[in-house]
Amino acid sequence: MSTPSIQTALRLLGLASVALLAACERPPVISVQHGYAGTGMVQVYNPATVEKQQEANQVPEATPQASPDGPKAGQVYQNVKVLGDLSVGQFNRLMVNMTAWIAPEQGCAYCHNVANFADESKYTKVVARKMVEMTQHINTDWKNHVAETGVTCFTCHRGQPVPKDIWFTANNAPKGANFIGDTAGQNSPAKTVGLSSLPNDPFTPFLLGKEEIRVNGNTALPSGNRASIKQAEWTYGLMMHMSSSLGVNCSYCHNTRNIAQWEGGPPQRVTAWHGIRMARDLNLNYMETLTEVFPGHRKGELGDVAKLNCATCHQGAYKPLYGAGMLKDHPELGRDTVLASSAPVKAAKAALQASAAAPAAKR
Ligand code: HEC
Ligand code: HEC
Ligand code: HEC
Ligand code: HEC
Repeated sequence: MSTPSIQTALRLLGLASVALLAACERPPVISVQHGYAGTGMVQVYNPATVEKQQEANQVPEATPQASPDGPKAGQVYQNVKVLGDLSVGQFNRLMVNMTAWIAPEQGCAYCHNVANFADESKYTKVVARKMVEMTQHINTDWKNHVAETGVTCFTCHRGQPVPKDIWFTANNAPKGANFIGDTAGQNSPAKTVGLSSLPNDPFTPFLLGKEEIRVNGNTALPSGNRASIKQAEWTYGLMMHMSSSLGVNCSYCHNTRNIAQWEGGPPQRVTAWHGIRMARDLNLNYMETLTEVFPGHRKGELGDVAKLNCATCHQGAYKPLYGAGMLKDHPELGRDTVLASSAPVKAAKAALQASAAAPAAKR
């Protein structure tokens, strides 16, 4: 062990490991049991990150409820299509809150021509109306994900017109002097997939499309088995996104003894399963329908609208805002108003109920 070359090599190795560690999180980290002892079901938290997260998840104080009595907004105003059955007081309370949640600096004028509030010339007003419907739909039809906690505009917007975490379909067509061709967005560490080199857009196949989220094939021999390596890589990309969006490790939803198996896994995986279907539904039936409404500068490279994923609501917390429910102070966002009776919505609800049974059926 005395040859200088070995010593130099050891010293270099030491330096290399210091460099490697520098990229890790600063200790101490805490680990918390999340299953039977000895099963490796553990969550690792960094107190510094947890503290920062607490600060970023303060909930604004609720304004006092308005009286439900008196004339309805639909009778008094000219162009109210969704919130017409609220009293004028309740309607105005919501307008004030929406302003605080979406555009506190810009004010009413962010959505309105203030010379005529009934005017529809600002795209933001048209988007906001759809957003009210989307929020009501989440809170009434996706209770198997959002429970009674529910969501308000603040869950995603947090005082900004554009939520912090949105995504567009990645343009992964070969560019310039790229001889490799279509790399499917791999090998360029992307934040969307936890800075790994996995495909940077697992959202288009899974949170817009309905590709199977699978790694294992379901037959031993290649007899019509369509599970591909690309699909496996997308799957891991989505899983990295889900973990980092919720600030949890894989074992929050999986029993690492057998990742694919549902038995013996934490119940959170079932909630997550519904979350995937919910995100898909919202992107397809709400965000995409606004494609013509959004101006060009809000769209992605391929001309698509901004879409949502797990991070849009969760923003690093296992439950958005650590489970603080704002919906109880905003019952008007917790019901279907006009749409409840329309035929397409009824059909969609029936389909939802059918799909809700699916994870159990997989066992
Ligand atoms: C984030 C967008 C947004 C902001 C900010 C906003 N509104 Fe609205 N406002 C809407 C939408 C959407 C409607 C239509 C609701 C419907 O169709 O049910 C509306 C409708 C109205 C109407 C009814 C007009 C009519 O005659 O049809 C009034 C009045 C109104 N808002 C007042 C306000 C006031 C006052 C503020 C500021 C405190 C405000 N709004 C801030 C989106 C917004
Ligand atoms: C589940 C997440 C989510 C919720 C809940 C939500 N939004 Fe949005 N909102 C989005 C996304 C994603 C966009 C697209 C971002 C963009 O504008 O490019 C958006 C865009 C908007 C815009 C357009 C902003 C702009 O400048 O382009 C308005 C206005 C808006 N939302 C209002 C609302 C209102 C009002 C509510 C509550 C009734 C609400 N949103 C609830 C996710 C959400
Ligand atoms: C928030 C919950 C959650 C987290 C965290 C999570 N997963 Fe998943 N995972 C799921 C759900 C739900 C499915 C099934 C999706 C479906 O069928 O639509 C799944 C599916 C998978 C599959 C496919 C299994 C098969 O049937 O082929 C693999 C592999 C996987 N996860 C690995 C991981 C890894 C690795 C991590 C950590 C980086 C992780 N997961 C983190 C919820 C989670
Ligand atoms: C529209 C906002 C929204 C979106 C988008 C969303 N979630 Fe959630 N999620 C919630 C809310 C609200 C809760 C809290 C429900 C409760 O209190 O039980 C929650 C709870 C969960 C839980 C249960 C946590 C626990 O400890 O019980 C998991 C797991 C989860 N979400 C995973 C996901 C995944 C994975 C995605 C993306 C595929 C996702 N969510 C997208 C709003 C959202």
